[in-house]
Amino acid sequence: MPTPMIAPSILSADFARLAEETQAVTGADWLHVDVMDAHFVPNLTLGLPVVQSLIKATDIPIDCHLMIEDPAIWAPPYAEAGAHNVTFHAEASDDPIAVARDIRAAGAKAGLSVKPGTPIEPYLEILRDFDTLLVMSVEPGFGGQSFMPEVLSKAKAVRKLVDSGELRLIVEIDGGINEDTVAAAAEAGVDCFVAGSAVYGTADPAQAVRSLRAKAAE
Ligand code: DX5
Ligand code: ZN
Repeated sequence: MPTPMIAPSILSADFARLAEETQAVTGADWLHVDVMDAHFVPNLTLGLPVVQSLIKATDIPIDCHLMIEDPAIWAPPYAEAGAHNVTFHAEASDDPIAVARDIRAAGAKAGLSVKPGTPIEPYLEILRDFDTLLVMSVEPGFGGQSFMPEVLSKAKAVRKLVDSGELRLIVEIDGGINEDTVAAAAEAGVDCFVAGSAVYGTADPAQAVRSLRAKAAE
């Protein structure tokens, strides 16, 4: 089994000290950045200018999670800015394959995300055009919510297709991941674990990253 990846979510960091907060998670595999537009989700966070500054402030690859409407228009600029991974929501797009193509053409990996209530079956075919599947394990919009174990069946279904060679992508999970829930997600075949409050809500975020990675590998 490859080493589990941990992606701290800066949604739980101090937004007035973002550059320092990236240094607090040295050793993280990706830095997860939640972009919310107050339309697709009932919350507003940050946008392209902040992501551009974050990319300059850290060597950790930036994992953009776009919880926004109109990803066809808004997603490619995050790739052009130098994000490692640009993920948008299946529910927000009429033509996810075209958006993935534009993200890749702009130099980033393309990710598709599904809310807890969105089935994965209709999207299995198009996952061939993606580098990441982000399974939401809380309703998108806010940090600090409780993990929804029922979404793990989606991770398991996609893991099976990855293991059989039919798909080639990273299975990522986001929402309510902590020391108590990470093992179940790992068991379901998740490769990359987003954690906001379980990392930035602790006194030693770098240690929290190491500890979550160890728990996922057990
Ligand atoms: C929620 C965001 C998550 C959030 C996770 O919509 O997509 O990335 O930061 O926070 P925790 O880990 O606290 O559930
Ligand atoms: Zn997220």
